[in-house]
Amino acid sequence: MREESRIFVAGHRGLVGSAIVRRLEGAGYSRLLLRTHGELDLTSQAAVARFFEDERPEYVFLAAARVGGIHANSTYPADFIRDNLLIQTNVIDSAYRTGARKLQFLGSSCIYPREAPQPIPEDALLTGPLEKTNESYAVAKIAGIKHCQALRRQHGFDAISVMPTNLYGLGDNYHPENSHVIPGLIRRFHEAKADGSAEVVVWGTGTPLREFLHVDDLADALVFLMETYSGEEIVNIGTGSELTIRELAELVARVVGYRGRIRFERPEMDGTPRKLLDSHRLRGMGWSPKRSLEEGLAEAYADFRETVGA
Ligand SMILES: NC(=O)c1ccc[n+]([C@@H]2O[C@H](COP(=O)([O-])OP(=O)(O)OC[C@H]3O[C@@H](n4cnc5c(N)ncnc54)[C@H](OP(=O)(O)O)[C@@H]3O)[C@@H](O)[C@H]2O)c1
Repeated sequence: MREESRIFVAGHRGLVGSAIVRRLEGAGYSRLLLRTHGELDLTSQAAVARFFEDERPEYVFLAAARVGGIHANSTYPADFIRDNLLIQTNVIDSAYRTGARKLQFLGSSCIYPREAPQPIPEDALLTGPLEKTNESYAVAKIAGIKHCQALRRQHGFDAISVMPTNLYGLGDNYHPENSHVIPGLIRRFHEAKADGSAEVVVWGTGTPLREFLHVDDLADALVFLMETYSGEEIVNIGTGSELTIRELAELVARVVGYRGRIRFERPEMDGTPRKLLDSHRLRGMGWSPKRSLEEGLAEAYADFRETVGA
């Protein structure tokens, strides 16, 4: 990519897309093509084709998707498979047809089989049944990977696919009920500190092991891969470090400054005991994350305070 390249960041107002824009702008890329959902509905084939004909992006980061938690995924499986298939097929196909130099497609760790070995290597893809609760989403994402691979094989189109681990950071969703674990803990500990509560209840046993990557480190990896990697093989993007939910809760409490008790309740809320991506492929290419989890959480807490005005 050159500073004057025309770069389309699809989904630029989302958690990932906004981090890609920060990273690109910080590095001096000046011709970013950005459209909100309202300006360009990516599920519309005609609208996407017209946009690509008019703007001719040279590089495409495909970070737009219909995204949601377990509840949304299991309540609206038809919407998840439809919208994601449409968004990705329209963007990937138009990028190829209008002669884009390169496209990067974002998947997620839910594409891997439920019983995949841990840490999960890239070649675990399609080796077993998927987790039922987000099967529609995962099947759409797997189709996107296969679409990219097929275009490379049949037409030599430079489309790559990357699989990030769990993310957190600036612009996260801090909703009290339907947020991911880190923003949820930040909010709860912040409120408990403000109210002077002696105890915070966290769901589950605290023993499941998880991996977390700051979204600005992700964006750095995405730009690195856009600049240096061209291949059919998918690439996991993680830190390679894991910690228990209890350790995570204690770390978030420390960052927020909450000094009360943490009690674990409802063991049935645990989910899978361990989820860690094998990121050796990426590490071997020379990329590693810059932030420790504690540094990243401090940034996320500052972002939360700014978002809620606290
Ligand atoms: N967050 C994570 O922990 C995580 C982890 C691994 C992988 N990923 C992957 O990263 C990608 C982006 O996720 P994210 O967390 O950044 O999601 P997000 O915050 O929900 O952002 C998605 C963006 O896509 C846009 N979008 C959705 N439908 C659209 C449509 N029909 N037309 C135009 N724009 C549309 C959304 O706009 P509106 O909000 O206006 O609809 C939003 O700006 C996804 O592929 C996801 O699988 C995320």
